[in-house]
Amino acid sequence: MAKVDFPAGFVWGCATASYQIEGAWNEDGKGESIWDRFCHEPGHIKNGDTGDVACDHYHRYREDIALMKEMGLKGYRFSISWPRIFPQGKGTVNQKGLDFYSRLVDELLAAGITPFPTLYHWDLPQALQDEGGWANRDTAQHFADYCGTVVDHLGDRVKRWMVFNEPWVFTVLGHLGGYHAPGVADPELALRTTHIVNLAQGLAVRAVRGTGKAEAVSSAFSMSWACPASDSEEDRAAAERLHGFANVWFVETALNGRYPEAYVGGFDPERFGVQAGDMDIVKVPLDFIGINLYTRMVVADDPQDKNLGARRADPPGGERTDFGWEVYPEAIYNVIMRIWNDYRLPIYITENGCSYGDGPDEKGVVNDGRRISFLKGYIGQVGRAIKEGADVRGYYHWTLTDNFEWALGYSERFGLVHVDFANQKRIIKNSGYWYRDVIAANALDA
Ligand code: FCB
Repeated sequence: MAKVDFPAGFVWGCATASYQIEGAWNEDGKGESIWDRFCHEPGHIKNGDTGDVACDHYHRYREDIALMKEMGLKGYRFSISWPRIFPQGKGTVNQKGLDFYSRLVDELLAAGITPFPTLYHWDLPQALQDEGGWANRDTAQHFADYCGTVVDHLGDRVKRWMVFNEPWVFTVLGHLGGYHAPGVADPELALRTTHIVNLAQGLAVRAVRGTGKAEAVSSAFSMSWACPASDSEEDRAAAERLHGFANVWFVETALNGRYPEAYVGGFDPERFGVQAGDMDIVKVPLDFIGINLYTRMVVADDPQDKNLGARRADPPGGERTDFGWEVYPEAIYNVIMRIWNDYRLPIYITENGCSYGDGPDEKGVVNDGRRISFLKGYIGQVGRAIKEGADVRGYYHWTLTDNFEWALGYSERFGLVHVDFANQKRIIKNSGYWYRDVIAANALDA
């Protein structure tokens, strides 16, 4: 592959999430989150790991920003912990929580790095979970109030916002199989939470705009390319239904005010708890589309499945990351082009990356060549989409430092920076230096 140039002003960044890096789970007035609770209950997380300390970023954010600066990052996507701001989810603001993010923003700006925060990356205040969490419609309004408060406070310095990270993942993984907090396994309730989160997105985007301080607002959506298992009409239709359910369940609603045609029997509003007037709330213009993408899904028609009429087939033997996800760079190109053609909004790649367990050698060098080759493939495909006309404005690598990877604890390493969790020592991996060179050149030599 030849040299791939990126447009002037393209934002090269990294993405993180509060619970995965901050630690300080009960400091400075922070309330308990559903992830604190979930990790403290035995049996949910690999090796009994918790995010109590994580990367200790709450205390080491200056050091982490210095690493970002060393790599030349232009942007930083991080998330704000709701229970730091409202320990009970609503009511009294915890000023110390706001102050932490204010210091973080100032430090980023001083380093020449543009902050790009997400208001919810899964750490719901436990107090709201005790009232039903995302299964309770009142949570949608509490979320909007919290978003308005934060944007009002930081909006003098922060202009672009995301309200949700991967609404599909935290509703479905958190409530259907119970793999993620709050650990509920109730498929019908899971479907209803998707609608309440769609309502929350509509209310929160309005609340953010209502401050008059935001220039752009949207969410970061989990997407993977729905690749039909064969060329048959049935498999292609099944892949299309899965695209509707897994990729645009929170996009089609916002932009077109309707749920995608994903269910074989049609969309049943009653099953999802849709009430009169709801779709007017759900429908809300977004200023861009954030895409989190790691791989593809191979989809076959499945007449046994009365819901989506689809099943995930195993991808044929390709290369996989340590996480088990297939390395499939064209997935990012295909999804960008599909989303660009369907919605014509600016796109940010808000997450993309890979888990490889490489650690330091005896000289302290982390030679993670597999990550570099992964990135060459995926970033090259982003460049290809831009060349073909898609308006992609930035790429935020998941992630800056190795961190707490949800149900898998510290066993998966997605960082450009290696962390020794015994002593919090950070080492920039070879991929981090490689990324620095890409950023400096604003081009990829693939
Ligand atoms: C995404 C999450 C992020 C991280 C990566 C690997 O689904 O948004 O927090 O765990 O996967």
